[in-house]
Amino acid sequence: MSNAKTICTVCNYIYDEVLGEPRQDILPSVKFEDLAEEWACPECGSNKEMFQPCSCVSLPVYEKTCVVHSEPEYQQLSSSSKSLIKKTPVGELVARNPAYACVLEQHGIDYCCGGKTTLEAACNKKGVSVEAILKRLALALQAGREPDQSDWTTSSLKALIEHIVLQYHNPLRLDLSRILALAKKVARVHGANHPEMIEVLEIFSRFKDELEMHMQKEELILFPSIASLESHKTIQGPGCFSGIEHPIAMMTKEHDDAGDALCALRRLSNNFTPPDDACATYKLLLNSLAQLELEMHQHVHKENNILFERATALFGSIYTKARRFAPPEI
Ligand SMILES: [Fe+2]
Ligand SMILES: [Fe+2]
Repeated sequence: MSNAKTICTVCNYIYDEVLGEPRQDILPSVKFEDLAEEWACPECGSNKEMFQPCSCVSLPVYEKTCVVHSEPEYQQLSSSSKSLIKKTPVGELVARNPAYACVLEQHGIDYCCGGKTTLEAACNKKGVSVEAILKRLALALQAGREPDQSDWTTSSLKALIEHIVLQYHNPLRLDLSRILALAKKVARVHGANHPEMIEVLEIFSRFKDELEMHMQKEELILFPSIASLESHKTIQGPGCFSGIEHPIAMMTKEHDDAGDALCALRRLSNNFTPPDDACATYKLLLNSLAQLELEMHQHVHKENNILFERATALFGSIYTKARRFAPPEI
């Protein structure tokens, strides 16, 4: 049986040939290439041209949670549970249930840098019905196929750091160089007809430089500090009471800046939509940027809403204990 997956570069819906698309009466094992030419994405209505193979993309959340077929979980939710979920920050919701990321991404709801916004406020901001989103969240849970079996809210911080570096930092470094080469080529060849692609190149070059520096700071300074805090359970060294709040605040601010750059890239490229005269490189660039944005959302979410939150809480408890046992000041 075929197992190819094809992603909509506009909304990130994945057509999975194993599953077909029950909502459109498309049977399992129908290949993407055999879908009718007029077939459109069931989520956003984009045509087939906007789809790209995603065999080379790491999309663990999407590939297992985007297609769901029934809704008993939603019907079982009490009204008090629904109102509790509505008042919960979206970052916290995804930290508890990674499957939710898929649904929020599809509706453009920012759960990484905007992770402290409640679901209700985030839906209002996006102009989408919170009830409809609740239903889709319940469906994503009901699919019950979370890709990432680790519970990062209870794992060791060291394991979470290793996961972030291996899963996100290392591939990102390769992607940044690959995408920069594409952006340079597109700006050179299409810049006259599409001056926005020159701006895309400028923004992306800056984004790449800043992100590489940012990851280096995390790997050399912040992550080792957090790992050491966890293993020694003590605050050590000069300036020991200055805490990790400042470096975390700096990294969070840099995440916001990266988020702004990604928004600018999306806006300039008309939601990563290739124009009629786009060549293969142009389409590949936009597809790569869409995938990069998705990876960045998951990456920043795990740092902002899980790692940094947990490290701050750990530091707070160690600091309180250390102050309690410190000799009185004379
Ligand atoms: Fe990072
Ligand atoms: Fe980061």
